[in-house]
Amino acid sequence: TGPILTLNNGVKMPALGFGTFANEGSKGETHKAVVHALDAGYRHLDCAWFYQNEDEVGSGIREFLSQNPSVKREDIFITTKVWNHLHEPEDVEWSLKNSLEKLQTPYVDAFLIHWPIASEKNADRTVKIGADGKYVINQSLTNDPSPTWSAMEKLYAAGLTKSIGLSNFTSAGIAQILKFAKVKPAINQIEIHPFLPQQPLIDYCFSQSIIPVAYSPLGSQDQVPGTGEKVSTNKELNKVAEKNGWSLAQVLIAWGLKRGYAVLPKSSNEGRIKGNAKLVELNEEDFEAVDKVASGRWSRFVNMKDTFGYDVWPEESK
Ligand code: A2P
Repeated sequence: TGPILTLNNGVKMPALGFGTFANEGSKGETHKAVVHALDAGYRHLDCAWFYQNEDEVGSGIREFLSQNPSVKREDIFITTKVWNHLHEPEDVEWSLKNSLEKLQTPYVDAFLIHWPIASEKNADRTVKIGADGKYVINQSLTNDPSPTWSAMEKLYAAGLTKSIGLSNFTSAGIAQILKFAKVKPAINQIEIHPFLPQQPLIDYCFSQSIIPVAYSPLGSQDQVPGTGEKVSTNKELNKVAEKNGWSLAQVLIAWGLKRGYAVLPKSSNEGRIKGNAKLVELNEEDFEAVDKVASGRWSRFVNMKDTFGYDVWPEESK
């Protein structure tokens, strides 16, 4: 369902993807959501080692495929990501293989570096937390991610992933990777919605043949600090939805697709999973109305700096 984007190595990626991060998800919730999503026509699932639910994504895919023999594994685009404490080359390989096992698939379609920082691990491969309660940063691999990227390239060459890419990278971080990359990143997955339109980073990605992928495209339901404003209650955005008889989520998804990147709405509710997959197209006037709301805004809702003890976007925190 929806447009298909072509990555810089020729691999095809459906522009509509389903986000599987479940904040306080109960057991079995992700499994059910994945089955509903595939039933609704999503053919792109966004996963991560960190989400701790890839076993449920895997079982959901298996259940759907067994009930729908006309759909094959290769009809579904699956993304996973390596977490911060697994950036050492041998851990990168371990992480992908661990994800593949849980997802019950011999390969993923995209394998991304989840965050542009590396941290230390414990002997049992859990995240090492310092006395301050924060991640212990691995400065060397954070400053020079080339060993991590080389490990990703090896896994790509071995066919364990059809493409490799980045997540939460700035233009500067991407430029650093491009300096040594033998295989160019195909994707940069970042937060994008009308309160964080990200036009300069999107332009940079496209100029380097990197496809932006939007997480939290619905604005995450969060409030802008200070004003309490929410994407979901914005008057102008809701006006566009009401005028057309659409949900606000449909408008936000359509805005992202018209800007040319992939979007990853997520929901655990069957009705909303299906409703969000009913794609609509914004006319120029409605597209501009959303652009107008987005103009000049910069409210980031996902920032892990308090957890990591490291600020990926220091210039925004001033
Ligand atoms: P729920 O799981 O109850 O549907 P984002 O992708 O921007 O992070 O937003 C995800 C949030 O948006 C989830 O909390 C999800 O809640 C909610 N959501 C998803 N689809 C819709 C929709 N069509 N209308 C309202 N809220 C939605």
